[in-house]
Amino acid sequence: MDVLINVFVALHIIGIASLLGGFLTQMKTMGSGTARFTPAMLHGALTMLVTGMALVGLNQADDQTVNNVKIGIKLALLVVILALVYVKRDEEKVDKGPFIAVGALTAANIFIATVWT
Ligand code: HEM
Repeated sequence: MDVLINVFVALHIIGIASLLGGFLTQMKTMGSGTARFTPAMLHGALTMLVTGMALVGLNQADDQTVNNVKIGIKLALLVVILALVYVKRDEEKVDKGPFIAVGALTAANIFIATVWT
């Protein structure tokens, strides 16, 4: 079971790379107002959701404690991220506000996941 959980943590991290990487590579274009939500960001956010839910189930099946408050907050932030990226996925230019919000919420989730032990 440990190997399976670790595989899903790895997939979870690949999801972060896709979501945050998509944001970081667009930061320069944000200044000129041409930043957009790329498919990598949407697929990364979806990967986070699927692998995160799988991790909750796997940890519970393995009788490991899951911090429900922490996971609930991460899920709530990811729902906002997903909603923004999904709704604006076809827009060729996204305003600074929602774009920064997605980057900031993703970073916040990383800190919640790692600092809240
Ligand atoms: C942008 C959104 C998210 C980010 C950046 C994120 C980040 C992370 C990171 C860095 C880890 C590894 C931490 C460690 O093993 O010490 C982790 C683990 C985990 N994540 Fe996420 N996560 C996100 C969303 C979610 C969601 C939506 C769920 C559940 C529905 C979830 C459930 C879990 C679980 C169960 C673990 C393993 C147990 C734990 O360390 O708490 N994550 N996450």
